[in-house]
Amino acid sequence: MARSLPKSELHLHVEGTLEPEMMLSFSRRNGVKTPYATPEEARAAYNFTDLQSFLDIYYGAMKTLIEERDFYDLTMAYVKRAKSEGVVHAEIFFDPQAHTSRGVPFDAVVKGIHRALEDARGNLGFSSSLIMCFLRDMSSESAMETLEQALKHKAWIKSVGMDSKELGNPPGKFSAVYARAKAEGFMAVAHAGEEAPPEYVWEALDSLKISRIDHGYHMFEDPDLVRRVVSERIPVTFCPLASIGVEYFRSVAEMPVKKALDLGMVACINSDDPAYFKGYIAKNLDAVIEAFSLGEREILRLLRNSFEASFLEEDTKAAQIGKLTALAAEMGTD
Ligand code: ADE
Ligand code: ZN
Repeated sequence: MARSLPKSELHLHVEGTLEPEMMLSFSRRNGVKTPYATPEEARAAYNFTDLQSFLDIYYGAMKTLIEERDFYDLTMAYVKRAKSEGVVHAEIFFDPQAHTSRGVPFDAVVKGIHRALEDARGNLGFSSSLIMCFLRDMSSESAMETLEQALKHKAWIKSVGMDSKELGNPPGKFSAVYARAKAEGFMAVAHAGEEAPPEYVWEALDSLKISRIDHGYHMFEDPDLVRRVVSERIPVTFCPLASIGVEYFRSVAEMPVKKALDLGMVACINSDDPAYFKGYIAKNLDAVIEAFSLGEREILRLLRNSFEASFLEEDTKAAQIGKLTALAAEMGTD
């Protein structure tokens, strides 16, 4: 059922959709070597023990992305897959510094992704926006430079975000960059409390003024923070298969998904880096449905949250939520 219902995906790194087959074809097309001879060899290497062990492989594989058309093809492949799983709207992260730092022009990255999203909007009726992430293990000066490069593409980028190695790179390091981004009209989100303590989430809320928390798992160690997130209806994007993949939890059943739903938190389910964590959004939803024996009411709640949590216009949000509410009424679940 979850696969066929409309949903929005809010935590998806476009570089995290680089399937091994595509990586090897870009490697041939661009003459860039990879450590893997076959897709099977690549998949066999995708055994992670923490965030850094994943990031090392992830940044290595994306070195095969060179030309604007690589970013176009990558994005289009994701959109087609997401659409087949009921995604009608996606807010997609990209990591410009991971490309500009190895000589790929910012414009090639953003134009390739944007062109694919525009084609998807026109030809597939797929709605989307872009979130430009700063790599938090790079300097704040580099983030500011990246923001400056983005200004001429402001119309294409809805929000800034922050990802990469969290521990040791607290949000406050980027408060001036976020303040500038907000002054320029961008929305703001951040990976926070993914591997770092609740203080990082407080700081992301108070000093970066984010309007959505990515992952946020460690906030559950702080009841005052949880109360704030629930009462202010600050959305949280959970990524079940990824958080198992980097061993934050031993199983999906250990994740705070049911707890969040019971508290009335605006939590939703997402796929993060599906090429590396063995599943796109439907598989992530299936995993939580099975782990918590969720009923229709809770599944619909997660899907409605995925729209409430989005940056869609209020009337579009209301229309999507209305469709799900009507479905719930038909099923007699809400
Ligand atoms: N980059 C891609 N996926 C990420 C994640 N889950 N956490 C931090 N940085 C990332
Ligand atoms: Zn992420």
